[in-house]
Amino acid sequence: MLPLHPSTIAVAIFCLAALVEIDAIWAPVTVTSNSSCAEGCTTYGNCNEDIGRCDCPKNRTGPSCMDAADRSLLRVRCAKALYPSIMECTKSELSCLNNCNRKGECIGGWCHCQPGRFGADCSLSLGPDGKPVLLAGTGYQTRAKRPWVYIYELPPHLFTWLNTKRLDRSTQLMFYQRMLGSGARIADGDKADWYYIPVRLRTSTDSSFLLHSIEYIRDTYPWWNRTGGSRHFIIHTGDLGADEVAEDVYALTENVTWLTHWGLTSDKPTSGWTKAHRPDKDVVIPVYLSPGLLKQFGVEMSPLHPLMDKDNRTVTLFFAGRICGDRQPPLKGVWPNCGPNSPGYSAGVRQRVHYHHWNRTDYRVVLFEKNYGRALTSSKFCLAPLGGGHGQRQIIVSYMGCIPVCIADGVYEPFEPQTDWTEFAVRPQEADIPRLHEILESITPERLAEMQVALRCAAQHMLYSSVVGGLFGEDGRYDAFETTLEVLRVKAAHPDAPPEMYRKLDLDFDKFMGCRDPPGWNVSGPVPDLWGLIGLGTGAVTTPGGVPGAGVLGTGPQGQAAGTGGSVAVLRNPLCSHSVKDRGRLPCERFVHGSSKTHGIPGGIMCARSRHNLAKCPRIWL
Ligand SMILES: *[C@@H]1O[C@H](CO)[C@@H](O)[C@H](O)[C@H]1NC(C)=O
Ligand SMILES: *[C@@H]1O[C@H](CO)[C@@H](O)[C@H](O)[C@H]1NC(C)=O
Ligand SMILES: *[C@@H]1O[C@H](CO)[C@@H](O)[C@H](O)[C@H]1NC(C)=O
Ligand SMILES: *[C@@H]1O[C@H](CO)[C@@H](O)[C@H](O)[C@H]1NC(C)=O
Ligand SMILES: *[C@@H]1O[C@H](CO)[C@@H](O)[C@H](O)[C@H]1NC(C)=O
Ligand SMILES: *[C@@H]1O[C@H](CO)[C@@H](O)[C@H](O)[C@H]1NC(C)=O
Ligand SMILES: *[C@@H]1O[C@H](CO)[C@@H](O)[C@H](O)[C@H]1NC(C)=O
Repeated sequence: MLPLHPSTIAVAIFCLAALVEIDAIWAPVTVTSNSSCAEGCTTYGNCNEDIGRCDCPKNRTGPSCMDAADRSLLRVRCAKALYPSIMECTKSELSCLNNCNRKGECIGGWCHCQPGRFGADCSLSLGPDGKPVLLAGTGYQTRAKRPWVYIYELPPHLFTWLNTKRLDRSTQLMFYQRMLGSGARIADGDKADWYYIPVRLRTSTDSSFLLHSIEYIRDTYPWWNRTGGSRHFIIHTGDLGADEVAEDVYALTENVTWLTHWGLTSDKPTSGWTKAHRPDKDVVIPVYLSPGLLKQFGVEMSPLHPLMDKDNRTVTLFFAGRICGDRQPPLKGVWPNCGPNSPGYSAGVRQRVHYHHWNRTDYRVVLFEKNYGRALTSSKFCLAPLGGGHGQRQIIVSYMGCIPVCIADGVYEPFEPQTDWTEFAVRPQEADIPRLHEILESITPERLAEMQVALRCAAQHMLYSSVVGGLFGEDGRYDAFETTLEVLRVKAAHPDAPPEMYRKLDLDFDKFMGCRDPPGWNVSGPVPDLWGLIGLGTGAVTTPGGVPGAGVLGTGPQGQAAGTGGSVAVLRNPLCSHSVKDRGRLPCERFVHGSSKTHGIPGGIMCARSRHNLAKCPRIWL
């Protein structure tokens, strides 16, 4: 400790009573009298010591947060932060990022950090050399595996004050939290491969958050000007991706990598959609589905789990859901089968597939299916169309081992073209719809079996299992979060390479996308031992060819350990599971129960058993 200046002692004593209540396991960081903020900031606010910014809670203001915000200020602030009323703004119990890492108190979604701690989740403090460090005193280290991601500290009005109750898609928050839990986050921006701007981008009215965030980081931190905005990424979860952002704001982000769900690469005038995706720059990422949604689709019965009984897939093509844009039931055997409103819904695909195939033997194209999960496990192919923008069926059906049929000209699916979807999905052109049955019939049983094996791997890339839990015995190493980071790693290494070349250019990426551990990567344990699981469940000995999705078995040096001592490997799998076949192992339910809708579990569900110390969160990639 540095010698304390009298003013620090006063502040320390003042705060102590509050601190004891906040957190019994409080470990002091070196707080010097030399706070870079106005004196007294940490009484009610947080001092970002790195940049000397004093952040106040919603209801306080002034250079050191000493003044209560009056009603008119609150009214403006709360409206901008998307609260319907001052009441909801000041009184609702909202969750905090990473639960403030137990280094602060969660006040309505905003962390009041202990003096010396700062950052949206209180994970930062200054180290002895005056540079920011993460989770001081816990042994946290950024992992060796690249990329290393620096997360900007946006002012609270652009991030932590915002009403998360009004956020139905919280991928941005999941990424923020998982970055720390996974060890990919780095505190030193000079060493980062990528910069994450954790700005909220869900609806078209969120453009202003993006504008102000970029202006802010450009003026405050050195890295934007150094890179011209490249190596920066943002996450947009709206239906139409970048198309939802004001043009002048979009222009500012010309070098930024957009992670979105909407891979539209050319205009679709009948649907009213304009090009929103630049494949050389942006990445299509899977939709994040909360544990609650997973349950709704019945995926705890996924037959991709080696122990699960397999239904016979007797239905050739299955689809259940809205068909006409106006939500009316479609007419049968008549064209047009839907009313005049929104013929552009799903680019017209649902309507035309229904018209041409509704009455075909072993085809089910219907508005509603009571047992949706069972329908997916008993169908060979599942239509996975667009909706009013991006769809999510392509990922849901893949979790159930049903080969997705994606018909959407000029639209990339998640991680396409970084990986070739035709290995595990059918991708006809829209013009092929009338002869879709011929296309599906031409797929031989052998080819179908190959695609199903490939799908078991691809499905892992489509699920944020390290955030929400596993479904089929996987351990999260190839999950959607890690796959996104992998794509960013390759993008940083080969900035000008066309993404469809990534697997050829980077053999580690190729292995990873094939769900095999790249040789020489530092990994905490072998891939989960499916052989062991099968042995445990049935006592049966299965030959490699007989296992669906044998592709997940590692062949690297670590992977070879699989197959010996199955129960050890099962115990090593740190990821909880939603599968009914894993109820006796580590079921996710107990962690999910009571977790926040918007924030889930600090660090992601992988960290559920170490939630108070994310430095202890099990890591797979070291
Ligand atoms: C406070 O910080 C300034 C600038 O970083 C430094 O020059 C000064 O010596 C520091 N004072 C103390 C008391 O640590
Ligand atoms: C601000 O909000 C907090 C948490 O709701 C409350 O405890 C505090 O009294 C409020 N302060 C003012 C000045 O209104
Ligand atoms: C980055 O460049 C802009 C425009 O030239 C300038 O206003 C800003 O101050 C620069 N940022 C930093 C951190 O120097
Ligand atoms: C994008 O990068 C190019 C090349 O580095 C640079 O000239 C341009 O100013 C950057 N655009 C923005 C909006 O910063
Ligand atoms: C699948 O079909 C086989 C052969 O027709 C039959 O023996 C088996 O019971 C069926 N399995 C299920 C789950 O219906
Ligand atoms: C549906 O198919 C059946 C048998 O293929 C046929 O008899 C029937 O006429 C068809 N219905 C319509 C409305 O086309
Ligand atoms: C594996 O770990 C070693 C020692 O920490 C490190 O030097 C090396 O770069 C790591 N390899 C990879 C591929 O991350």
